[in-house]
Amino acid sequence: MTTTLTTPLAALTSDLDATVRHAAPGLDRVDAVGEALAPYLGDPRLLSPAQCVGDPARYRQHVLHVAEDGAFSLVALVWLPGQTTPIHDHLSWCVVGVHAGEEHETRYRLDGDRLVATGEDVAGPGTVTGLLPPGDIHRVTNTAPTTTISLHVYGVDVTRLGSSIRRRYDQPEMSAKWRP
Ligand SMILES: [Fe+2]
Repeated sequence: MTTTLTTPLAALTSDLDATVRHAAPGLDRVDAVGEALAPYLGDPRLLSPAQCVGDPARYRQHVLHVAEDGAFSLVALVWLPGQTTPIHDHLSWCVVGVHAGEEHETRYRLDGDRLVATGEDVAGPGTVTGLLPPGDIHRVTNTAPTTTISLHVYGVDVTRLGSSIRRRYDQPEMSAKWRP
């Protein structure tokens, strides 16, 4: 897929392409992609104004680049204050870098027919995290009073699949601290 990229965004996609193709699959690739992404986070020239626009109805995905062979996708997700994802997991490895604002992530595991919260983190600009399915059930919420933007690199072609989400979970939630 070809879109108009800013100069730093073109450099980032080039770096990601080289990294995805040279790093070994698995955790090595996730770590290497995170290292490639980190230097670009927070650069005010990285995204065009249009790529930073949110949607009052729900968090918004802007597809920034997809490798020609579908080896990876780069998207910007824009959350207005209070917007949240469903509880979900992913089809592929994923690297997330916070570009602006603040992401509150809650992680879960499935225990029978219930979701058990296993941890949470608040990530600010420059923070990079990686996900390597299975066992990556989580929810992300913008708890900041301002717009939050994060860059996501997925190991799939999101334009073919619609998104990187494998499954949504609507089972009852139980905090680990409530467990008997
Ligand atoms: Fe996710």
